[in-house]
Amino acid sequence: MDNLSRRNVLKAGGVLSVFGAIATAAPAAARQPWRWSPAGSVLGSGDGADPRTVWDSEADPLVASLLDRGDVPRVNDLLRTWTKNGQPLPNGLPNDLRDFMEHARQLPSWTDQGKLATAFKFNEKRGTYLGVLYGFASGMMSTVIPNEARAVYYSKGGANMKARISKTAKLGYDIGTRNAYQPDGEMIVTCLKTRLVHAAVRHLLPQSEYWTSTAPEDIPISQNDMMVTWHSLPTTVMRTLTQWKVPVPADESEAFLHSWQLSAHMLGIQDQYIPATWAQADSQAAQVLDPILAPTPEGIKLADILLDLGAGLDLTLLSRPVLSALTRFALGDQIADWLQIAREPVWSPLLDVAWEPYIAVREGILTVPMAPEAYWTFDEILRQFVLLYMSELRPISIEIPVINRPR
Ligand code: HEM
Repeated sequence: MDNLSRRNVLKAGGVLSVFGAIATAAPAAARQPWRWSPAGSVLGSGDGADPRTVWDSEADPLVASLLDRGDVPRVNDLLRTWTKNGQPLPNGLPNDLRDFMEHARQLPSWTDQGKLATAFKFNEKRGTYLGVLYGFASGMMSTVIPNEARAVYYSKGGANMKARISKTAKLGYDIGTRNAYQPDGEMIVTCLKTRLVHAAVRHLLPQSEYWTSTAPEDIPISQNDMMVTWHSLPTTVMRTLTQWKVPVPADESEAFLHSWQLSAHMLGIQDQYIPATWAQADSQAAQVLDPILAPTPEGIKLADILLDLGAGLDLTLLSRPVLSALTRFALGDQIADWLQIAREPVWSPLLDVAWEPYIAVREGILTVPMAPEAYWTFDEILRQFVLLYMSELRPISIEIPVINRPR
């Protein structure tokens, strides 16, 4: 049982009205037939099956069997030493797991090394924005994705959000490195371990009475859920950069998309659901992401924890008021209100008025000087997000869970 603080008690009133919103929003979204055509995917074709009824037919039975056989702790021990894409798998893995991993670690035929090199250029140029965007635009958005919020909250990692965030941040970090998908990089390893974690969650969460009594699905993390979360990452990042008027050359934007298309494939998303272009990504996001965003009691609690992310670290500008104002600024009033985040009297108006000019000055588009204090403050916020990423990224091991969230 969670500790009941005064704030949580006050929040409970809001949570009741939140239930009302979900009750009306969720079935409406669920009733929509699946319309997005596989013609718009990286594969260009497919059986077009509704991804809400498709999970991971290779990894799921395998990991369920590892869990049932009691092999997972030994597998986690062995995989802890497996960190580089090109590294041979450790000796001693069960044969069925080894066979699966040897095959699943291969990059697809549509991998374009030229685009990956350009993606690195983009990540290098835009790293300062990406910290705040992955961390805040995407991270906070995940709390208003109902299926994800519930899955995260009731799974093992939900009990220690800081550790969970650092593991998720590892993926955001790995994808931005020069050698992300090269033999000396780590992105393939991170994706494949995550694919195994998701398969374990599909086996474990249906055994949680808390999850089954709140979730509208029998098995979590469908292919559709995967794409929803995927759009909370690259699609949301690109939408926000566009909204902030950050200039991104077409080849860099396409390359950034490519690096994320590859990650989707390596995470076990079928090629027929991975959008081939930004236009296709936007059309899919309009179908799968935008209409399903809604508050849940679990998401509100997760957001509350995320707002204290900077607490305890020496990052004075990542205080709760700044993070609250950034959430409202990046994701809009509706999402901030759903998450019961108050409007900050100082930071919200400052962001509203000065953020766009700051970007324009930073990008060399506007030469008119702005108040140096505001410029310095925004620069420092971006820098502290990068530091947060770094400080949270001590060598971290993504491990297959064997239990749900302990009570
Ligand atoms: C674990 C990334 C989609 C729920 C993880 C981890 C990463 C990750 C890196 C490992 C971190 C850890 O072990 O804590 C992603 C990415 C996704 C995606 C990049 C899509 C592109 C989803 C979706 C859901 C979900 C759609 C639920 C609907 C979870 C859960 C865990 C997890 C419950 C396990 C936490 C635990 O150990 O208890 N994910 N994820 N993920 N993910 Fe995902």
